[in-house]
Amino acid sequence: MAIIIKSDREIALIKEAGKIIIELFDILKDNTLPGKSTYELDILANNFIKSKGAIASCYNYEGFPGHICISVNDTLIHGIPSKKIILKEGDIVSYDVLVTKNGYTADAARTFPVGNISEEAQKLIEVTEESFFMGVKEVRPGAHIGDISNAIETYVKSHGYSINEMFAGHGVGREVHEDPYVENTGHAHTGPLIKKGMTLAIEPMVNMGKKDVKILDDGWTCKTVDGKLCSHYENTVVVTSDGYEIITLKEGDSRH
Ligand code: MF3
Ligand code: CO
Repeated sequence: MAIIIKSDREIALIKEAGKIIIELFDILKDNTLPGKSTYELDILANNFIKSKGAIASCYNYEGFPGHICISVNDTLIHGIPSKKIILKEGDIVSYDVLVTKNGYTADAARTFPVGNISEEAQKLIEVTEESFFMGVKEVRPGAHIGDISNAIETYVKSHGYSINEMFAGHGVGREVHEDPYVENTGHAHTGPLIKKGMTLAIEPMVNMGKKDVKILDDGWTCKTVDGKLCSHYENTVVVTSDGYEIITLKEGDSRH
C-alpha cells in the first residue's frame, strides 16, 4: 500500500480526533489510582469518547475485546481491560488509545504512575517519552523514516534499555494502520522518504531489561519475557512543510 498524503481538510479531521485523546489522557491520569480495575478505566474512556461523538477504535479491531489497551507493569502493549486487574500503588500503567471521529483516526499512548513509584520506574517512563522527542525531531520533508528509528534506538540504548523488534509505529488517519512502518530501531538515511501531509504514529516501546516479549494465550497481552518493567509513549504527528506538528500532545506537556 502506498503512503497516503492527507489534504488539509483530512488533517483538520485527524486533529479533531487527536483533541479528544488529549482530553481523555487528563481524565485517565486523574483516575490512575490504587483500587481501580482496568475494566472500570476502559468503561470510563469509552463513555468519554462516545460523549464526544467519536468511536473507540481499538474495540473489535481484529477482535480486540476492550475499548482502549491498558497495560500494567511488565505488560508492554495490548493489555485487555479486566475486572481482575486492580491497580496498586507503585504500578505503572500504559494507555493506548485510538479515537475515530467523522471517519478519521488519531492514535496515542501514555504511561502513568499509580501513586508513588520507584525511581527506576520513573526514569524508564521519562526515557521512553524523551526517545519519542528524539525521534520526532528528525521529521521533516526530505528526511527518511529510518532517521526517526535510528534516533529512538540510539537514545534508548544509551540508557541501557531495550526495544522489541515485533511492534512498530505506523501511518494513521484514514485507517488505524497505514504505511509506512515506523520502526523503533533502524538506520539513518534508510526507508521511505518523509513528505508533507503524511500522518505518522510514532510509538517507542521500551523495556527496562531484555528486549524479548511474548504474547499470552488470550492472543493479545504482550509481556516482557524477563518480567521486568516496560513503558510506551505515542503521538500522532503531521508532517508540515518544514517539520512536524504533534497533534495528540497537550500544550505545555513537552519539555521541548
Ligand atoms: N493503538 C495500537 C497501535 O498503535 C493499536 C492497538 S491494537 C488494538 O497500533 F487492537 F487494540 F486496537
Ligand atoms: Co499506534
